[in-house]
Amino acid sequence: MKRIKAIYPGSFDPPTNGHLDLIERGSKIFDELVVAILRNPEKDPLFSVADRRKMLEAMIMTAGFDNVSVDTFDGLTVDYALRLDAQAILRGIRAISDYEYELQMALMNRKLQPALETVFMMPAEKYSYLSSRLVREVAQLGGSIDCLVPDLVAQKVREKMDVAHKFANRGEFAVNASSEGKSRSRKKKA
Ligand code: PNS
Repeated sequence: MKRIKAIYPGSFDPPTNGHLDLIERGSKIFDELVVAILRNPEKDPLFSVADRRKMLEAMIMTAGFDNVSVDTFDGLTVDYALRLDAQAILRGIRAISDYEYELQMALMNRKLQPALETVFMMPAEKYSYLSSRLVREVAQLGGSIDCLVPDLVAQKVREKMDVAHKFANRGEFAVNASSEGKSRSRKKKA
């Protein structure tokens, strides 16, 4: 019997509960699913590709999906899918607003490689508002992301934010210190 392999390409910066939900659904209908992180030099991501890979691998291991693996790729998604002998591209659609972009991408991918099918799946309703971009924004502004991403991801995001805040504070301190220094030296002169 023919085994169906699919890739689930994306940025996953960071991976969310919505991604995990889709991976679970994909793992049930495909014989093999490869979660494929795009290596995109143009983007300025929060997490390195290596970090995102580690998080996704840990999520998949914790969930016990034995037909799911993680990989990275660059270039065209369709070329990568063909290299892997995959027959399908899995993408999630959360709301109508996703549809236009996803349809455009699916049709372009079909034009480039007619043999590949794009399969759309919907995550659970409770994740329909969830995106990596919003997770980054909420975390950067000090909000809780605990129910939005797996615990291990929330921990990594918090670590990133702590480091970022420390750097920001150090910068502020340096600015304050230098302006204090200036005013002090001005006072001395006066
Ligand atoms: O998680 P994202 O950022 O929505 O994923 C977008 C992704 C990685 C699937 C898309 O940008 C992509 O496929 N990029 C690879 C380059 C490519 O194939 N471009 C043509 C797409 S029609």
